[in-house]
Amino acid sequence: MKEWYDSIKEAQSVDKLEEIRIAIFGKKGVLAVEFAKMKSASNEEKAQLAKDLNTYKSSLMNELTARKIILQTLELQELMKAQAIDVSLFSATSETGALHPVMETMDRIVEYFSAMNFSIKTGNMVEDDFNNFEALNLPKYHPARDMQDTFYFKDELLLRTHTSPVQIRTMMNTKPPIRMIAPGAVFRRDYDLTHTPMFHQVEGLLVDEEGKVSFANLKYILEDFLKYMFGDVKVRFRPSFFPFTEPSAEVDISCVFCKGEGCRVCSKTGWLEVLGCGIVDPNVFEAVKYENVSGYAFGLGVERFAMLIHQIGDLRALFEGDIKLLEQFQ
Ligand code: DAH
Repeated sequence: MKEWYDSIKEAQSVDKLEEIRIAIFGKKGVLAVEFAKMKSASNEEKAQLAKDLNTYKSSLMNELTARKIILQTLELQELMKAQAIDVSLFSATSETGALHPVMETMDRIVEYFSAMNFSIKTGNMVEDDFNNFEALNLPKYHPARDMQDTFYFKDELLLRTHTSPVQIRTMMNTKPPIRMIAPGAVFRRDYDLTHTPMFHQVEGLLVDEEGKVSFANLKYILEDFLKYMFGDVKVRFRPSFFPFTEPSAEVDISCVFCKGEGCRVCSKTGWLEVLGCGIVDPNVFEAVKYENVSGYAFGLGVERFAMLIHQIGDLRALFEGDIKLLEQFQ
């Protein structure tokens, strides 16, 4: 029996120790053999043998357990040494996240108007007919509603087709003067190269006493804003129509692709339309019960801005989560 103590002490691995355990305690192990020998012993011998064997049994078991703990600890230390990671090492393959180009563009727009003291309003994505259409001088059956076909719920609720209803909500619960922008998602039943069912707009509204707000104020700030966004571009205002503004204009910048020379993107005109604006229509003020005020408003599509700034050809690419595209914005 003695030699087994030495074997346990000399075992260099948990596996080896397990072999030894089986050799001693297994069904055909040395202890089983010794106990079997008792059968042929006399009764007095039996008692003594059993006592001795049981003493061996428990002391060998203690030795085994103690050695096992030591070996396990050593093996764990070896493993940790082998798998150690130097977290301070530079990894050439690490990748960082980045803002989505649409959100980055939105942030820049918000940054400009915040600096100009416009506050930020959010409104509701699920709107009612009054805020989305009626109060914006788009009565039921008005043909201009066709341009903004949306997703309807029951009880005159719908997904907002533009951020203009935030104008109405803001005027309904604040007294003038107002200087606000409303960035957010809007929805339309559209899907092609330049339209997606969900996209983002930023609406702007400024209201002050009657006679204080002019088209010249609007022209000044939008020109300054567009130069902030697109750099050194020419800006022009074209007469247009929106039900909620009168007079209304669409604003073009000189084409960022061909610098105004005329190309495929600007349909050879040298100009790109980037926003709509105008002087707030008196019917809108009447709907929100404002008197003796004047104001201007404007609205723009954030995806269109992002596409022009980053020269992205297909609007839908912005919504496909394509890593190859997004990686370019880190
Ligand atoms: N709501 C318009 C649209 O979605 C954009 C717009 C045009 C907003 C002119 C305005 C504005 O406030 O004055 O097409």
